[in-house]
This record gives sequence, structure tokens and C-alpha cells, in this order.
Amino acid sequence: MNEYVTNLILKNAETTVDPELKKFRDEYRQKGVPTLLTESLNLLIMFATMKKPLKILEFGTSVGCSGIALLKASENAELYTIERYEKSYFEAKENFEKFGLSGRVHQFLGDALDVVDEVGDGFDFVFLDCNKSKYKDLYPKIKGLLRSGGILFADNVLFRGYITGEVKAPHRHNTIKNNMREFLRLISEDGDFITTVSDVGDGVSVSYKK
Ligand SMILES: C[S@@+](CC[C@H](N)C(=O)[O-])C[C@H]1O[C@@H](n2cnc3c(N)ncnc32)[C@H](O)[C@@H]1O
Repeated sequence: MNEYVTNLILKNAETTVDPELKKFRDEYRQKGVPTLLTESLNLLIMFATMKKPLKILEFGTSVGCSGIALLKASENAELYTIERYEKSYFEAKENFEKFGLSGRVHQFLGDALDVVDEVGDGFDFVFLDCNKSKYKDLYPKIKGLLRSGGILFADNVLFRGYITGEVKAPHRHNTIKNNMREFLRLISEDGDFITTVSDVGDGVSVSYKK
């Protein structure tokens, strides 16, 4: 792609992400903590801003960056967020407090597949960003928890080019590759959803439940 246009696209994404949030995200990225790429974060914020959800479910809290972004973009929303790693769970708790958002957050500690039955239902926005090989197993559960008119936003669906085959997946990532392909097949062929898959960041799918 033309370098000028590429930079322009990235710059546009950067300017729409809140500077305080960007600084917070950048500090963690520098420490090697995985958080959303700017382009994907920008798209997530855009969908949340348009949807104005009241009840958000997130898989993969990490240290809270995407959760904070979702809450800032959706001022009337409550966030239900699941993390299996205790250290991240507590760090996210501190971060939600720092941003003055704790009152709107319900954190769950445990594996997504075990905890998902405890979070309630009636969600109008789901952000899927945990273990990539679990998306396909979580999908039927998410479908049941999502309201009609709700959005499922999933990150890393093209995982490093391995899913399309553009980049050959190392053997150790074969399960992720096969399971993610199955997830994409499931959401794309499900007549109850309208789905679009794009190569933004590490690949993003957005599905609208009819
Ligand atoms: C890519 S990071 C999430 C980044 C975060 N959403 C953000 O953008 O700030 C993935 C997180 O999911 C957590 N995770 C992975 N598999 C999980 C599972 N099966 N259940 C719950 N959490 C999981 C990891 O510990 C990690 O913190």
C-alpha cells in the first residue's frame, strides 16, 4: 500500500483515541502486555459509540485497557469482564478505579468457558479477546447471551496471517488456526447474524444479531 496513505490511516486512528487512554495503553504495550492495536481500538470505540450499549460483556480483561475504552465510549453502560489470570484481574481492578469507572464494572476471575454461565444475559455488546482457540466454543454461549440488535466484536480473527494462510502457521499454532477458521465459518454461515470480517489490525470480525 502507498506509504503516505498507510500513515494517514494509522494517524487518523490515533487521533480519535483519547490521549489519556492512548498513553495508558502505550505504557503497557512497552512493557509487553498485549492490548489492542490502535486501529482495532479505534474501530472498537467507533462501534461502541454508534451502538450506545447498556450492557457489555468482555472476554479477556487483561489490565483493563479495552474495558476502559468501552466504558468511556458508552457512558450509560455497565461492563461485565472475564479474566483468568489473577495478577491481571487485580491490576485491572486498580486501573478501573484510577479511571473512576469501578462503579460500572463487574469483574469475573476464571476461565471464560467456566465463568460465562455466571455473568447473566441481555448483553447488547460483546467483545471477544481471550484465548484464540476458544472463540468457536464460546460462540454458541455468546449467541444466547446477546440481545437481538446486539453486536459481537472479535479481535485477532486473522491471527498473524495464519488463518487465511497468507503466512504459514507454525505447527504449535495449528489448533488456533483450525479453531479460528471454524469460528469464522460459524459466524459467517449463521443466518441470525450479519457478519463482516476485515483485516484491520490482526483481523477483526463484527457480527450484528438480527
Ligand atoms: C489480548 S489480552 C486482552 C487484552 C484486552 N482486551 C485489551 O485490549 O486491553 C487476552 C487476555 O485474555 C486472557 N485469557 C486468555 N484466555 C482466557 C480464558 N480462556 N478465559 C479468561 N481469560 C483468558 C489472558 O490472560 C489475557 O489477559
